[in-house]
Amino acid sequence: MRQFGLIGYPLGHSFSKGFFTEKFSAEGIDARYDNFPLESITAFPGLLQSHPQLEGLNVTIPYKENIIQYLHQQSPVVRAIGACNCIKITNGQLFGHNTDVVGFEKSLCRKLAGHHKKALVLGTGGASKAVQYVLDKLRISYIVISRKADAANGIVDYSSLQQEEIKDATLWINTTPLGMYPHIDAAPPLDYETITSRHYLFDLVYNPSETRFLSLGKAKGATIENGYEMLIIQANESWSIWNS
Ligand SMILES: NC(=O)c1ccc[n+]([C@@H]2O[C@H](COP(=O)([O-])OP(=O)(O)OC[C@H]3O[C@@H](n4cnc5c(N)ncnc54)[C@H](OP(=O)(O)O)[C@@H]3O)[C@@H](O)[C@H]2O)c1
Repeated sequence: MRQFGLIGYPLGHSFSKGFFTEKFSAEGIDARYDNFPLESITAFPGLLQSHPQLEGLNVTIPYKENIIQYLHQQSPVVRAIGACNCIKITNGQLFGHNTDVVGFEKSLCRKLAGHHKKALVLGTGGASKAVQYVLDKLRISYIVISRKADAANGIVDYSSLQQEEIKDATLWINTTPLGMYPHIDAAPPLDYETITSRHYLFDLVYNPSETRFLSLGKAKGATIENGYEMLIIQANESWSIWNS
């Protein structure tokens, strides 16, 4: 039986285990997918030793960045953004990939219009780096917004964001966990009154399916998308990588 799994901590409500277990059963694939909660990333080599049959792993919070020290090879995307969420293991060699990038790009592009030329990216974590990589590739300019300004890197904080700065930014992307279950009343602190029907709000959060961020946009006629499709695409992409 082939073996795959997920590392991260904590792993209470992992989407991936359910997704792959159902896929293996529906498609008659002789494989299993397990959660491996690691309290510290230093436990990772021990996990590989105790599970020598593992062929592939997904990596989630908080290890997408510090897993890189254990990789033998990195895809160009991992090298560029410094975050890895998928590892293919062949003869003990670990090859790191980032499937969030392809997941976000494909999902974003379905509803992207020609006038979405400038974006607001909320948050500066691992998912934000994947989003910024895609926006650079699509030549969409963006302002990164954080709780803490970092002028040297062009990062603006929420409270000092000027109306003028966001005037043309019709693409708003939430990469923060704000609004995620159970804190469903939370939303990034922005002026939602400025939203028009030309806006496109993309939330990487997928539970609930319509976050407060998305409902506030929808109320103003904006196009909206949650992170569910991105999640499915990145999972299928991991499966392709493990079988390539
Ligand atoms: N749909 C998908 O396929 C998919 C894929 C990856 C991630 N995600 C989701 O995306 C979100 C972020 O994931 P991540 O891996 O980037 O996490 P992360 O590395 O922890 O980064 C999250 C960022 O959000 C900001 N943030 C955190 N708490 C906040 C708060 N209370 N108020 C305002 N901003 C806050 C922080 O940026 P600042 O410190 O700069 O404010 C932080 O760097 C999670 O909800 C995750 O589930 C979805």
